Amino acid sequence: MLQATEKIWHNGQLISWDDAKIHVLSHVVSYGSSVFEGVRCYDTASGPAIFRAPEHARRLLDSAKIYRMDLGYSIEDLTRAMVDVVRVNGLRSCYIRPIVLRGYGDVGVLPKGNPLETYIACWSWGKYLGEDCLFQGVDVCVSSWTRIAPNTLPALSKAAANYMNSQLIRMEAAANGYAEGIALDASGYVSEGSGENIFVVRDGKVLTPPLGASVLPGITRDTIVKIAEQLGITVVETIIPRELLYIADEVFFSGTAAEVTPIRSVDRVTIGAGHRGPVTEKIQKRFFEIVTGSRRDEFGWLTPVSGVPEAEPVTA
Ligand SMILES: Cc1ncc(COP(=O)(O)O)c(C=O)c1O
Repeated sequence: MLQATEKIWHNGQLISWDDAKIHVLSHVVSYGSSVFEGVRCYDTASGPAIFRAPEHARRLLDSAKIYRMDLGYSIEDLTRAMVDVVRVNGLRSCYIRPIVLRGYGDVGVLPKGNPLETYIACWSWGKYLGEDCLFQGVDVCVSSWTRIAPNTLPALSKAAANYMNSQLIRMEAAANGYAEGIALDASGYVSEGSGENIFVVRDGKVLTPPLGASVLPGITRDTIVKIAEQLGITVVETIIPRELLYIADEVFFSGTAAEVTPIRSVDRVTIGAGHRGPVTEKIQKRFFEIVTGSRRDEFGWLTPVSGVPEAEPVTA
């Protein structure tokens, strides 16, 4: 259950959590007209730090531009707002959710007279696919639902409407006892999970579908590519046929929520040794060293949030 915090950032002001409400006839409710982000803030030894905040802000602006939404905020404004909302709520680690939506005004598909509203909320959050999954891996299926096709809903925009497709994938997977579903693109090649990008390891090389395979340009996807480069592991963006999943040495998901989650089976076919493989382990280890600040931030990926007191030590 969502843990409420005190404040939410709204159009430049910090408002109370309970006041962050919209009218049921807001454009977004009928037509799904919002774009959003999911960002993590990690508790590091030198205080809370938001992971790749400017990159998330940039993707939010990109998502909005595709839908002709002009927020009037810059990458710097949005990054500062994320820092402010974490600080004011006094959180050491949390999930941050910026949302831009078309609000209350006229009713009709053509958005006119519907003001854009920008909100940024944050709250405490644990592991998305479960704590053990980071080590043991998850059991997933290939979805019977196809990912949004090119020139229908733009996959490069992280728009709420895309998540109706994600919901179908995720609900079907859950109904059949899987942790997650992998969608194929309109050509039948591997696209991504309902909320994660996917990577396949074969013969020591790491493969991931290109942006043209209806994938979200994941910030973690980009992080994995850069970490792999640093570790001397070759990454290739290429079309991936479904059956390559079954014969892969390793498969893993990446995402802000899922972080780096190994996949131990696909459609009940065991992947590799049936648990986290060595390449996934190396990349995952480096990922957590960086995000938790236990390794020098050589990529400049952490935006510090100053002024958040340390949690009271728990006494027996
Ligand atoms: C559909 C989809 N693909 C991929 C991702 C991973 O993107 P990121 O690493 O930026 O969180 C997400 C999560 O935001 C997603 O919802």
